[in-house]
Amino acid sequence: MLPLLLLLLAPQGCGARYEPTWESLDSRPLPPWFDELKFGIFIHWGVFSVPAFGSEWFWWYWQKEKREPYVKFMETHYPPGFRYEDFGPLFTAEFFDANQWADILQASGAKYVVLTSKHHEGFTLWGSKYSWNWNAVNLGPKQDIVAALATAIRKRTDLRFGLYHSLFEWFNPLFLYDASNVFNTRQFPTAKSLPELYEIVTKYQPEILWSDGDGNAPDTYWNSTGFLAWLYNDSPVRDTVVTNDRWGAGSICKHGGYYTCSDRYNPGHLLPHKWENCMTIDKQSWGYRSNTKLSDYLTIEELVKQLVETVSCGGNLLMNIGPTHDGRIAIVFEERLRQMGFWLKINGEAIYGTKPWRTQNDTITSGVWYTFKPKDDVVYAVFLNWPVSGTLELGDPKTIVGETEVELIGHKGQLKWVSLGEKGMIVTLPQLTPNQLPCQWGWTLKLTNVN
Ligand SMILES: *[C@@H]1O[C@H](CO)[C@@H](O)[C@H](O)[C@H]1NC(C)=O
Ligand SMILES: *[C@@H]1O[C@H](CO)[C@@H](O)[C@H](O)[C@H]1NC(C)=O
Repeated sequence: MLPLLLLLLAPQGCGARYEPTWESLDSRPLPPWFDELKFGIFIHWGVFSVPAFGSEWFWWYWQKEKREPYVKFMETHYPPGFRYEDFGPLFTAEFFDANQWADILQASGAKYVVLTSKHHEGFTLWGSKYSWNWNAVNLGPKQDIVAALATAIRKRTDLRFGLYHSLFEWFNPLFLYDASNVFNTRQFPTAKSLPELYEIVTKYQPEILWSDGDGNAPDTYWNSTGFLAWLYNDSPVRDTVVTNDRWGAGSICKHGGYYTCSDRYNPGHLLPHKWENCMTIDKQSWGYRSNTKLSDYLTIEELVKQLVETVSCGGNLLMNIGPTHDGRIAIVFEERLRQMGFWLKINGEAIYGTKPWRTQNDTITSGVWYTFKPKDDVVYAVFLNWPVSGTLELGDPKTIVGETEVELIGHKGQLKWVSLGEKGMIVTLPQLTPNQLPCQWGWTLKLTNVN
């Protein structure tokens, strides 16, 4: 009787329980929403936004590596004896308006957001019980930034809310103590990183947990599998949460949820595992920098190209902005976000909810990337250059007599085309002046009934 009863009670499907082993955790299917939504915004914000110089790795480059530009910057702009901790009260966030941020993020066409709840400096953007006097409630902004943004996002937008969390902290004495013991002691994860992780999940219920910063310590030191088993089995977000692959030395591109592999990862070919290209609009930094030139920012053409290449190859794009210490999304970031949203408003059907096609980019014409909606039998060809000839040769789609139809998204009516048999097709684009085009920066052909 008992075995039968156990069988009947045995968890199935989404009720399956996971063991704290990679074998078990890696077998968890990625919640489908993540692949469908395709595009998210990454926000790097913290005390590093105060010096706003060089990179969010400011503290490390200045104090640990003693890089000359950083040392000089401090000598020039701050009194002798000024410590990194003294930047804390200067993280004022007086213009931070979570509702305004939410509206800008929504306007970008992004479908999820990932905020740095804590970067390697250890400063928590929420009032952590485990980060005494080094958190946004006690110091600097004097408010719970994570709560404010989570609330605004959930109230005003359809975006999913995610949190980035750094496992290690550059200068935390407990971490340094464990490191000096080659991670045979576990004071830091026991007292700091694990309690924090449980705290942010239960308090804010993020649907993405974007882990980072293993500090060269193995996942056994971090007890990542123990934590993930709880996250997948018993946490309030167990059914919908998505995680990445940065859970300990050697786990990247190998274990966890989706793969990030490296910063700005964009392989240009299809991968067998779901992945994400996390990249920055400011080519050199994740955190805000005051010392940028306009040419340091990717143009909207370059950003659209990243999105299209990434999605064609089965990835998601996570595009980063760095707000200022006083809580503003700089106008140049806002403009890029709104441009992206404008482009997606027209071309979004070639992005959201698509699957990779049998080939990713065209074999004849460069700058043409394919996506696919198997249900509708539609192939999308996004082309990044408008051909001067007025015709676009596509080497891969094979037309079907009497069935194939071609449209330019955002333009009424069907386009003329000729078949090249096995060699593809030539599409005649409408003759439009630049301001008659449905948009700039990339266009989409919708191909119905092609092989
Ligand atoms: C790891 O985490 C799990 C789940 O919270 C816990 O049961 C286990 O005791 C932890 N192991 C260590 C070594 O801390
Ligand atoms: C297709 O994309 C790959 C990866 O970016 C590139 O190496 C190849 O040259 C592209 N094909 C064409 C025809 O441009």
